[in-house]
Order: sequence, then C-alpha cells, then structure tokens
Amino acid sequence: MVCLLILPSKIQKRRLEDMKTAARKRNITVVDSFCSSVTHIVTEHENLDQVVKTLKLADSGTLDKIQVLSVAWFTDSMKAGAPVPVEEKHMIKREKADRDNGGNENSGRNPLILPEYACQRATCLKHFNHKFTKALEILQKHAELRDNERDSSRALAFRRASCVLKSLPFPLTSMSQLKNLTNIGDHCKRVIQEILEDGECREVNELQDDWFQKMVVFTNIFGIGSATAKKWIEKGWSTIKEAQEGYISSDWRVRWGLAFHTDLNTPVNLQEAQYIQQIVRKEAETILPGIILQITGGFRRGKEEGHDVDILMTHPEEGKEVGLLARLLQRLQNKGIILCGNLEKSTYSDEMLTLDSKLSAKGQLDHFEKWLGIIKIPHSCSENPAMDYSGSLSIISSCVHKGTGCSVDNSTCCTASEQPLNYQPLNLDESLDLESKAKKQKLGTENEISPMELAKLDRNWIARRVDLIVSPYDQYFYALVGWTGNKQFNRDIRTYAQRELGMKLSSHGLYDLNKNCALPARSEKEVFQNMKLQYIEPWERNC
Ligand code: UTP
Ligand code: MN
Repeated sequence: MVCLLILPSKIQKRRLEDMKTAARKRNITVVDSFCSSVTHIVTEHENLDQVVKTLKLADSGTLDKIQVLSVAWFTDSMKAGAPVPVEEKHMIKREKADRDNGGNENSGRNPLILPEYACQRATCLKHFNHKFTKALEILQKHAELRDNERDSSRALAFRRASCVLKSLPFPLTSMSQLKNLTNIGDHCKRVIQEILEDGECREVNELQDDWFQKMVVFTNIFGIGSATAKKWIEKGWSTIKEAQEGYISSDWRVRWGLAFHTDLNTPVNLQEAQYIQQIVRKEAETILPGIILQITGGFRRGKEEGHDVDILMTHPEEGKEVGLLARLLQRLQNKGIILCGNLEKSTYSDEMLTLDSKLSAKGQLDHFEKWLGIIKIPHSCSENPAMDYSGSLSIISSCVHKGTGCSVDNSTCCTASEQPLNYQPLNLDESLDLESKAKKQKLGTENEISPMELAKLDRNWIARRVDLIVSPYDQYFYALVGWTGNKQFNRDIRTYAQRELGMKLSSHGLYDLNKNCALPARSEKEVFQNMKLQYIEPWERNC
C-alpha cells in the first residue's frame, strides 16, 4: 500500500493542497509529515541530498526503502487513477547524497531536532526503533507495577524517552544521534547504549523475573490493579486459577474479569470491533436517528488489535443525546448480548473545564456519561465481518444461559455506590433456551449460575470489553481527541496546552486561563488550531 508524503518545498501552498486532495480522492494515504509508514515521497527537489536536508535526516540511509520520486510520477499516477509503476524518468538524482554518505554517521553531528512535545510531531505505530522502545517500555511497565500507583514519575520518564525514539525518522545507530534530543535521561541513555553495543540490555532482561511476569498476568485481569496483584503474590499465588479459586470479590469487574480472563485476554481484532460497532450503531440509530458514532481508542489510531472497543457517541442537536445510553443498553440487553456492565452518570459541570485534572499514568478520567462492560459476540464474526448481525445474534441468544446478564447477580449491573440502571432484567424465562433450561433444572434455580460457570459452558460466543461514551455535541471534538488517545499523547498535548499556552485541555473542552473563556471546536482540526498546533492525524498519535 502506498503512503505518500509530498514535500512542500518549492510547491505553492494551494497547489500542495490540491495535490493532496487529488491523491486522497484516489484512495492514496497522504501524510503531512515524515514517519515510518511513508513508502513514497514526491518532491520538486532535484536530488536526494536536498530531500535528506529538508527532512532533517542524519543521512540518506533512512530513505533506502522509500521511493523518492519527482512530481512527474505523481502526475502520471493521478492521470492513471492509481499509483503507477516507477520508471527511470520518475527518479530523482541520488549521486550527491550517496557520495556524502561515506559511513560518516558517527561524526557526532546530529542535525535532527525534534519538537519537544509529542503533539508537535508524528508518532506512528511502525517506526525505526522498536528494539529500543520495547526495552524502555518494559522499564516503564516495571516502574508502574513496582512504584506506588500515585507516583508515576519514573514510569513516565521511560515512556517519554520511548516516545521520542518512536518519532525518529531513522534507526538509531550511534549515541551521538541522541545529542539534541530532549526527554532522554541518563538511565535511558545507558539502556540505549547497551543495546547498541550488545544487542540487548541486562537490566531489562533481569527485570522480567518471576515477580514481574506474575504482576503482568494479574494486572491484566479486568478490575485488578497493582496493589491487589502484589497482595496475591504475597499470598503465594502465581496463576489465574489460584486467584479464581481463592479470591472472593464484591467488585463485579473482578468477578467477571477472573471468570472470563481467557476471553478478555484474547485481543479484540478489527473485524470484531467493526462488528460491535455495527450492532451498537443499528440500535442507537433506531433510538436516535442522526446519531454520530465513532470507534475511538487504539482502533482509530490504526491498531489492528486492542483490549477493548471504545465507542463515542453524540448527536448534533444539543440535548438529544440525553437518555440515549440507558435506552441503548436496554435494547442491547433485549438482544441478549450484555453480560455485565456499569452505567456511570455524567458528573460534568462547567467548572470541570478549569479544574486541575490528573495527568497521571493511569490515564485521564473524565465526567461523561458512560457504560463500561462486557458483551458477548459470536466466535464466527471475525471470520465473516459482513455477516448480518441479526442472524448471528440469534446464534448467541440460543446458546446463552439467559437473555440478560443482569439477573446473574444484580450487583453486576451497578455497584452499590452508583446509580441503579434504568434497564431492568427482562422476562428471563422467555429468552431461556433448552440448554440453559436444563442447566437451570440442574441448579435448582435460575439465578445461581455464576460468571465462572457461565464461562465454562460450551459456548460459541466470546466475551469482549466495551466502553460506550456519550458526549454533548459542543464537547464532542474534544472528547474525540481524548478518547482517541493514546494516553501518552493526551498527557503531552495537555501539558503543552498548560505550559506553553496557559490553557486547560480536557475531553470536555479547551479553556483559556488568561482570557477566562472556553474555546469551542467544530472539528478535530479546530481542536488543534485552537492550540496553534499542526494537525496530527489519529494514526500519528501512537506515542
Ligand atoms: P484505552 O484504555 O481503551 O486505550 O482507552 P487504547 O489506546 O484504546 O488501548 P487498547 O487498544 O484498547 O488496548 C482509549 C483512550 O481513551 C482515553 C485513554 O486515554 C485512551 O487514550 N480514556 C480512557 C479516557 O480519556 N478516559 C477514560 O476514563 C478512559
Ligand atoms: Mn481501547
């Protein structure tokens, strides 16, 4: 697939925009800044050396696998309606840059200066420095798990360094290339140096000990944080099975998280995410025509897998979205696809715009009305995403114990401190099928099947974590940025707003603390414009 960067040098702004539009119309991915996804560069420059300089690259090695082409190739491709094969006449001169590139990369000169904040640069999923970033993110994870949950400073330092390396437009080959880069502290430098010299880092290898492995397994359970995981290890537990057998929790997330651990730790793929979106969209549109619904989170950033599906909803007519979520959940429950979940009321008020929010490692809490829960989808949906879901839902409901998850245990729907759900358990007997009737008889009562027993049933569905978020339209584009993430991108753009602009950014809006006013946005691009930032595409926010 072609991912095109058109270098702006020597091209008038208007023409550049026209070129981008023309390419996008032909389904070619066009990016605005250089990143590792780029496969083709089109330029008015005559030789590679000038391109290397414009891109502020250390040398031309980075461009080895990229087609650097003249505008002639672009014009031919636009005429053909698709990228044409590269011919001699499309190439630009390479001699000068090749001659200059005489193994001089360790000269100590580093011409690359990255902007300080991740919101000022592109950070793509694919990049040149995975072996370093993987190591740094193990250090980050270890710090998150070891340190007190309130002190995330060590973890964040590793993450910031990793994020810088992800933005580098070349593979790191010498320490001198780090010279002008911010956010890479001495500890990170030691790790990088060792990897450069030995191909691996001893500290990182040693960190991944028994304790670390167990902590990772336990904290991957829905509802379990590092404090509980540490207690389990102190008790001598090392497997999920031990926790399933020995832990009694009043938290619905933990009960379901433990029971459906295998399902929930199988990554959600893109087809499944689209399938879930399709179900939610159909029901939501029936309730509220004109609804705007968007998958956010990792999938919007171009990831092919995730741990959950995040869906953000709004309606362009202010106020129409009120009450939507409860009705939507009722319908999903009628379909028999909700296993458990919790509806949180909106806690938003205008002062949230100016109040200090936490920019912690745990992420960014907001005040939207939302539902966090677990639904069931057929195993088969990822093989055949185009399948009409109404058909597949009958597959599901014919194999589950009962129509809804609520009756399994009322507290699975809402925790005591939170508002009870508007949706009530329906007439369960109606949705019981033969298999579950048999089960019911065996158990004596229909209400006694536990999440664990449910998980053990022979079933043709899989449990998936879903977050449904509802935003008023005037906050929607800020919510979209916040829920697209990633977390590190949010941290950076919020810090940038605060430190550089004296503005407070959250998923609810942007507030100018000097002028004492909120800045509205009617598109995601306007969110960036309001902060004087170049637009960063969702897939460039993988910090
Ligand atoms: P996720 O935790 O789902 O992250 O939150 P993700 O990037 O999609 O990761 P995977 O692919 O599921 O594993 C999605 C985004 O929503 C924001 C997070 O900061 C993240 O960027 N978020 C999450 C909030 O703004 N508020 C929350 O309460 C939770
Ligand atoms: Mn997600």
